[in-house]
Amino acid sequence: MAKMWAGRTDGVTEKIADDFNSSIRFDSRMYRQDITGSMAHAAMLAAQGIIEKTDADQLVEGLTGILEDIESGKLPIDMECEDIHMFVEQVLTERLGDVGKKLHTARSRNDQVALDIRMYLREQLDTISQQIRSLIAAITLKAETYKDAIMPGYTHLQRAQPITFGHHLMAYAMMLLRDIDRLADCRKRMNQSPIGCCALAGTTYNIDRQFEAKKLGFDGVCMNSLDGVSDRDFCAELLSSLSVMMMHLSRFSEEIILWSSWEFKFIELSDTFTTGSSIMPQKKNPDMAELVRGKTGRVYGDLMALLTTLKGLPLAYNKDMQEDKESIFDACDTAKMCLQVFTGMIETLKANRDNMKRAAQKGFINATDLADYLVKKGLPFRSAYKISGQLVALCIQQNTVLEELPLDVYRGLSDLFDDDLYQAIDLMACVEKRISQGGTSIASVEAQITYVKEILGS
Ligand code: ARG
Repeated sequence: MAKMWAGRTDGVTEKIADDFNSSIRFDSRMYRQDITGSMAHAAMLAAQGIIEKTDADQLVEGLTGILEDIESGKLPIDMECEDIHMFVEQVLTERLGDVGKKLHTARSRNDQVALDIRMYLREQLDTISQQIRSLIAAITLKAETYKDAIMPGYTHLQRAQPITFGHHLMAYAMMLLRDIDRLADCRKRMNQSPIGCCALAGTTYNIDRQFEAKKLGFDGVCMNSLDGVSDRDFCAELLSSLSVMMMHLSRFSEEIILWSSWEFKFIELSDTFTTGSSIMPQKKNPDMAELVRGKTGRVYGDLMALLTTLKGLPLAYNKDMQEDKESIFDACDTAKMCLQVFTGMIETLKANRDNMKRAAQKGFINATDLADYLVKKGLPFRSAYKISGQLVALCIQQNTVLEELPLDVYRGLSDLFDDDLYQAIDLMACVEKRISQGGTSIASVEAQITYVKEILGS
């Protein structure tokens, strides 16, 4: 079939060229944004006296019918079309005749596609932010349950100091709060309307860009027409924010995988969020967490693909830019799926308090508190650190722990030691003493939970 852009050429192209050129396979998902944008455009054209009001009414009515018919399944999207913009215009013209041909006055597919993407991504971004909020709420709830469950805190994956599972979980709540913040920031720059930039240079028609921007819920308009049609930095920003968010989920996934191993056994994932092995009957695999970790690479890939596509493009529109959509759609789909599964996995996991505590008892993670005990009795920290280290070495030699060493052994190294040292190195006491803001004491974790709940407004 001859193209709508037939004119200079007869619009007849090779099938292979059509298939190669076409984007409808992936941009058809923007049909609603495309139609809504066109409705606003028709209304603006009439308000400015560029087309008759009666024509605009017919256009809006025709577009409403197309939207309804696509949504009800009555109008299948024709995959032979070049893209969703052409499809909508083609059906409109088939249905309305010459009036349909008036819609494309004072606009170009270049500003149309830029508009559709911004409107589509704006919705995706809002959905994703909402999903992150739900995940934070699930994490916070777990943190409340386990605010007194002692576990080893690690550095270098070596047991370091006692913390609570609630405290550990709240670290992720804080990261995810920043992810929401990053998305909100990205939305501000995304929410500027490119429509009216036309092909690249603006237009000779007396259009009202503010009218359309307002009608479509934008905060303002792109201030340079070349920029409006060429810019995809809002896509890169979204992908980069999603990459950071996925990186957080991936780190969390890694811990969930470790914690659910026999070596740790800190948590038990619900059967409903794990899989079995086809051959090894004993297996219960944390596939969901592994897939989230794996899909993080995919989202990074989407970001890299987009940045690389854009890096050498001269202004203004180049067809290379059609490649933007698969990356941004894939990243949004992936992020949404991961967030949903991850939230379910968190909601249903159970911690094994005894195993966590046992692990905390083994690694001399109260050695810092032992040193602090001596400091509080007047010894300089470095000297206290040394004595504490010597006592750890002694324990290792005698295959025992600090809690079990007799007082006379302690006194052999410093006469500042007294009976109260055992209370000072009790794990719960070590946790409870860390009352500094953001620390691991129950009160500090409760304050973190309150802080997050206030931000979420729940
Ligand atoms: N399908 C195109 C895209 O996604 C729409 C814009 C086409 N503009 C053009 N001048 N060929 O980028």
